[in-house]
Amino acid sequence: MTSKPMLVLGMMSGTSADGIDAALVKISGAPPHLNIKLLGHVKQNFPPSVRNEILRVAEQKPLAPSEFSQLHARLGKLYTDTALSACKRLAISPRRVDLIGNHGQTIYHQGEPVDFLGAKTASTLQIGDSSIIAALSGITTIGDFRSADIALGGQGAPLVPYVDYLLWREANLGRVALNIGGIANLTVIPANANPSEVFAFDTGPGNMLIDALVSRFTHNHSRFDEGARIALRGKLVPQLLDQLMQDPYLERKPPKSTGREYFGAAYVEKVRSLGLRYRAKPNDLIRTATIFTSLSIVDALHRFVLPKAKIHQLIVSGGGFNNPLLIGQLAALLGSSQAGARHTVPSSPRTKAVPGIEVLSSGSFGIPVDAKEALAFAVLAYETFHQRPSNLPSATGARGPAILGKISYAPPR
Ligand SMILES: Nc1ncnc2c1ncn2[C@@H]1O[C@H](COP(=O)(O)OP(=O)(O)O)[C@@H](O)[C@H]1O
Ligand SMILES: [Mg+2]
Repeated sequence: MTSKPMLVLGMMSGTSADGIDAALVKISGAPPHLNIKLLGHVKQNFPPSVRNEILRVAEQKPLAPSEFSQLHARLGKLYTDTALSACKRLAISPRRVDLIGNHGQTIYHQGEPVDFLGAKTASTLQIGDSSIIAALSGITTIGDFRSADIALGGQGAPLVPYVDYLLWREANLGRVALNIGGIANLTVIPANANPSEVFAFDTGPGNMLIDALVSRFTHNHSRFDEGARIALRGKLVPQLLDQLMQDPYLERKPPKSTGREYFGAAYVEKVRSLGLRYRAKPNDLIRTATIFTSLSIVDALHRFVLPKAKIHQLIVSGGGFNNPLLIGQLAALLGSSQAGARHTVPSSPRTKAVPGIEVLSSGSFGIPVDAKEALAFAVLAYETFHQRPSNLPSATGARGPAILGKISYAPPR
């Protein structure tokens, strides 16, 4: 079955709070055969004052209702600016764009119910008002994708696996899609899988720990370790790595999701004080945190993926793909090539090499690493627009399928 193609703009701003990625996508058809074509993507950084406030709020620092309301509106305006400048840079009139999928900025995520005012409660909140985007851009906008899944007992995350499945299922290849954003998460798509066989979870930190250490040691002059330059000047501290690898999050069984609530400021402080104990210099700490990030992903493959499915390819997306030490270490342990071999560390049963898994970028499938998640939210919006469910209960743990999000209509023309 096919339908008239729609032009959908997906927008994503993740836990790194670096900025907004926007992807313009042409989509037609209905599952399991969607035609998904990326037409272009742009990125807009957050102004530093906005970024600082997002990070402060995401760390659960006090926020008056007035400030909360203002931040929600300010982000709505920034997303609108990004949408309109994306149209301009991609030379397409906003009038021709049918729909926006707006992930929003997560400021709180509690996927597992916890006691709250006498009742077990789970919740998630992405801000950046979709009504503002729809009213000011003239493009109908869908936002708040996660809440319906949580209402059905799911974790509200991860949602991208639905799109990974549509994009990358293969009759004869087992694949893992890995996104290294602030948090790293993966989707397992066994060969010839049906949707209920797809599973996914957050493996732990992606760039979050590295970014926080870099900001701290450079007094906010640098936000991230560009080209891993800082880490490459440091030494690995094996005792610290061992301690980090004992983090209880790594042992928790999927489905599981995490965020700044766990791997945020308090965690960074813990890493810093461990660093002091082992007399690690800042560069050593950043190197060790980078290697830990790679190894936590390999650990997750050993514990939860390889016992269940034969994997031939790892398809990597997200800003972490641009960190050569992070990726070099992964490729050295997984790939058959010797490309990253110089980065290898002493192996343990949980981090030993799994040769023969080809490490690829989503770019090799026509989706640049920075466009992947934004593209995914364009696809999820398209599904919601057609009133189809797009959570994968096997990935989120929900009781059943949910049609995700809320719709804000464009003003009449
Ligand atoms: N050239 C680079 N070198 C090292 N790290 C990079 C580079 N480019 C991006 N990154 C990392 O990617 C992060 C942004 O990744 P992104 O996929 O946008 O995450 P999120 O989805 O959490 O916003 C940056 O904060 C940084 O850590
Ligand atoms: Mg980002």
